[in-house]
Amino acid sequence: MPVTAVVGAQWGDEGKGRIIDYLAQAADVVIRFQGGDNAGHTVINEYGKHALHLIPSGIFNPKTQNIIGSGCVVNPQALLDEMSELTAAGVDLSNLWISTRAQMVMPYHRTLDVLEEAARGKDTIGTTKRGIGPAYADKAARSGLRIGDLLQPEWLEARLDNALRTVNRKIEILGGEPVDGQQLFELCLSFREQLGPRIIDTVPMTRDAIVNKKQILLEGQLGVMRDLDWGIYPYVTSSNPTASYASSGAGLPARTISRVIGVVKAYSTAVGDGPFPVELHDEDGTRLREIGGEFGATTGRPRRCGWFDGVAISYAAWLNGMTGLAITKLDVLDEFDSIKICVGYKRPDGTLITDTMPDTPVLMQVTPVYEAWEGWKCSTAGCRSWDDLPKQARAYLHRISELAAIKIDYVSVGAAREQMFAV
Ligand code: GDP
Ligand code: IMO
Ligand code: MG
Repeated sequence: MPVTAVVGAQWGDEGKGRIIDYLAQAADVVIRFQGGDNAGHTVINEYGKHALHLIPSGIFNPKTQNIIGSGCVVNPQALLDEMSELTAAGVDLSNLWISTRAQMVMPYHRTLDVLEEAARGKDTIGTTKRGIGPAYADKAARSGLRIGDLLQPEWLEARLDNALRTVNRKIEILGGEPVDGQQLFELCLSFREQLGPRIIDTVPMTRDAIVNKKQILLEGQLGVMRDLDWGIYPYVTSSNPTASYASSGAGLPARTISRVIGVVKAYSTAVGDGPFPVELHDEDGTRLREIGGEFGATTGRPRRCGWFDGVAISYAAWLNGMTGLAITKLDVLDEFDSIKICVGYKRPDGTLITDTMPDTPVLMQVTPVYEAWEGWKCSTAGCRSWDDLPKQARAYLHRISELAAIKIDYVSVGAAREQMFAV
């Protein structure tokens, strides 16, 4: 069965974009199934270096249909900006589609994201301030506007009017400026002008692809540790990056997904607030950040860095039903004498957690238990097969696979498309 979900197995930024770009060379359809322009998926190929926010990472293959699925929240302005950048780089956008059912991120969602973060005082989530939480909140509250509404101006106007009744009150309570409905409506009409022909009911396209056994990739955003239900709540995003949501957010029957690839860095990073047990505040943490270029692709924030978290991978692999791992950024560890892996969390009472993810208040109190692995102290950037890797690197990767209890499908040793190989 040709549907593969590609999901983040850590705290986001695992390298999902580059994996999709690689796999999309042979894909007929790529569908982003959740999230919005909080994503920053870096792809480096013959078109240059691009951080994709909303556009699926299969866009560089002119034969691939790229769909922004119904599980996404779409800021039309951000999408138009991204489209302009890609067009300027010579990328063909004729196969870019947006589901009528995807929610719209309106300018007031960004305003609310900023105001709500400020109102949290010291208990911030560290959001990307892209309006993602408020847009999904409106979706659940049934006051959201959908991309398809752009095609029905009368309906859109009434929906907007309805939404603004509560939105403006909220904004005022939080100390912001209320928004003008008429101006927003006109802005929406300009979005309709520019995006109209790309807004489609995606079901005929995806159904046709399934019937004809086409290769379909489902592109996740963020990672399991920031999943709304299964992540470090409340320091999470407002959607579900886990594979179980992929079919719903993409608009496919659940049983059509036959492969789930979990993307993991060979170490750990997180951007934003919340517990991150393996975080290093020492020189090793700084080295990982510098060598790995660990700065957010969307916000530019320095990422928190740490050793590989074996508890998180065991949890992520099981929860996602992963069939294989794609391990990225192995090359970042090339110069370390010794490399650690967290194999358990110790609670304050001394008891050990190895195969479950404790709830947030408990996770905040645990200390990681490490085992040390010998470094390989040579460059892996030119390796193009498993056998090319130094034996210490193979042993290290083998341990990660053992902790996840699944096989390794791909390894990457550099950010360029060719610096990746199947195992
Ligand atoms: P995503 O959000 O999961 O797509 O990941 P990001 O693009 O936010 O972050 C991954 C970063 O690591 C990007 O800057 C990539 O160019 C870079 N990258 C991906 N794979 C590798 C790799 O194997 N080695 C190195 N050195 N960099 C990589
Ligand atoms: P990709 O797809 C890393 C984090 C934010 C914050 C939390 C909630 O590139 O892996 P949000 O703006 O979604 O309400 O923020 O989630 N976050 C990400 N961290 N990579 C991302 O996307 C992220 N998208 C959101 O830092 O902690
Ligand atoms: Mg990213």
